[in-house]
Amino acid sequence: MDDRSGSSEVTRLNPGVAHNARVWNYWLGGKDHYPADREVGERVFGMFPNIVHVARADRAFLGRVVNHLAGQAGVRQFLDIGTGLPTVDNTHEVAQRLAPESRIVYVDNDPLVLVHARALLTSTPEGATDYIDADARDTATILREAAGTLDFDRPVAVMLLGILNFILDTDEAAAIVRGLMDAVPSGSYLALTHPTLELGGEANVEAMRFWNEHATPPITARTGEEIARFFDGLEILDPGLVSCSLWRPEVPALREVGGLPAQISQYGALARKP
Ligand SMILES: C[S@@+](CC[C@H](N)C(=O)[O-])C[C@H]1O[C@@H](n2cnc3c(N)ncnc32)[C@H](O)[C@@H]1O
Repeated sequence: MDDRSGSSEVTRLNPGVAHNARVWNYWLGGKDHYPADREVGERVFGMFPNIVHVARADRAFLGRVVNHLAGQAGVRQFLDIGTGLPTVDNTHEVAQRLAPESRIVYVDNDPLVLVHARALLTSTPEGATDYIDADARDTATILREAAGTLDFDRPVAVMLLGILNFILDTDEAAAIVRGLMDAVPSGSYLALTHPTLELGGEANVEAMRFWNEHATPPITARTGEEIARFFDGLEILDPGLVSCSLWRPEVPALREVGGLPAQISQYGALARKP
């Protein structure tokens, strides 16, 4: 990408060091990345080629989950934390296609996501979108600012897709989930995806070690058992905590034709707050 930012923005953008939001965009086939991001993206791909399937299956999961929430479940409010760079079918586009009055708040702490946030703020006139530049650990700020757009007396779908893996301490990650889910009423939802070394992800050990030496922020994988803890107190919907590619796939017979392995090493689930 071109860099036409001012010097202080360039410092925060830190183009010489690979950043997760930009490398994720590279694996998704986007165009918002720097040479350092492409180099690390390629090296990780060389060690763990399935990373591209992981990124794409995760986005496809997002689409199916939001379709279910905005459709059958009737949810009209979404808090999408760890949004990533704008891509095809962002949360508000999927939700507002079914329910134009949907209100969506995006949160990320990557400076380039902030630069591109305008593309996330293209709401329908009936609905609303907002963007908060904040760290997921700062749930107090997120909840306070999100309350300008979302009504916390009505159900909210909290979306934590591919982000808790950047909160290295499992207790801290669980506390973030608890803080968010305590703030939303009964009938709210938690959608979550998380990388694992299970489900065929064993080859990711080396790639994650390389990532942690050369890119930011540092990442961790978790077991299915550890990830299941994040859903404590919630009712996990069918089919449970599974490879996110196997979560209610729309066209099962075509999965492999599309080049996507049936199972990928990214757990995903959707749960309802009773
Ligand atoms: C793997 S991407 C996932 C993007 C999107 N949710 C998806 O599923 O396609 C993770 C995103 O989380 C953001 N992120 C990582 N750590 C974060 C933190 N502590 N607070 C807020 N955002 C964070 C990154 O900047 C990146 O955009």
